[in-house]
Amino acid sequence: MRVRVLRQESPTTEPYWESFDYDGPRDTSVAGMLDYLNYHDDIVNADGRPTRRIAWECSCLQGVCGACAMVINGMPVLACDTFVRDLNCDEVILAPLTKFPTIRDLATDRTSIQENLRRTNVSIGEYQPKAGEDFAHQYETAKCLKCGLCLEICPNYTNGNSFFGAAFANDCYLVHARNHQKARDVRKVYARHFGNACSKSLACMDVCPMGISIITSMARLNR
Ligand code: FES
Repeated sequence: MRVRVLRQESPTTEPYWESFDYDGPRDTSVAGMLDYLNYHDDIVNADGRPTRRIAWECSCLQGVCGACAMVINGMPVLACDTFVRDLNCDEVILAPLTKFPTIRDLATDRTSIQENLRRTNVSIGEYQPKAGEDFAHQYETAKCLKCGLCLEICPNYTNGNSFFGAAFANDCYLVHARNHQKARDVRKVYARHFGNACSKSLACMDVCPMGISIITSMARLNR
């Protein structure tokens, strides 16, 4: 099986494609495949030339931290939650998320997600849903990983513009639901950084690894 990786030495260098031959198991995740390529042997590319290890990020390897978000065969997904056998192809194409600056190879800098929450004062920090009205949706929304997949697929989101995307709208909903004193301020920043610019493609709901219903958060905030 061929693996093609979009590589980049550093944020300031040009990206380039490099291919690898993968002869490991298909009954593993793309994260497992990357580990196999990096550590199975001294790493060589498909031309047999020694090369440096492929940089990518991971932490939990269980689909619950969001660190391994990347673009696999054109789709923004979690590498540890995407199985090689399910890709059903002879060539796997790996690229970093395009909406965030690349640090190195498949690792991207997603600090803007938290930065946008902090700037607008809707960061929820550690969160425990309160029993009561809307508990189920609060609980679901609080699972947001801030992985950036929803922003990667969003036709309206560009890093650095004033539209902050689904992850932001979800935290607006949570802060709004829990802190009635802040409700008015939250509605204002929500309108400014989400409400007026979302074109409702709802592609974010297709790729969210936690299955969060952003449209429910939007409905609650627009109520
Ligand atoms: S490593 Fe945590 S979600 Fe993949």
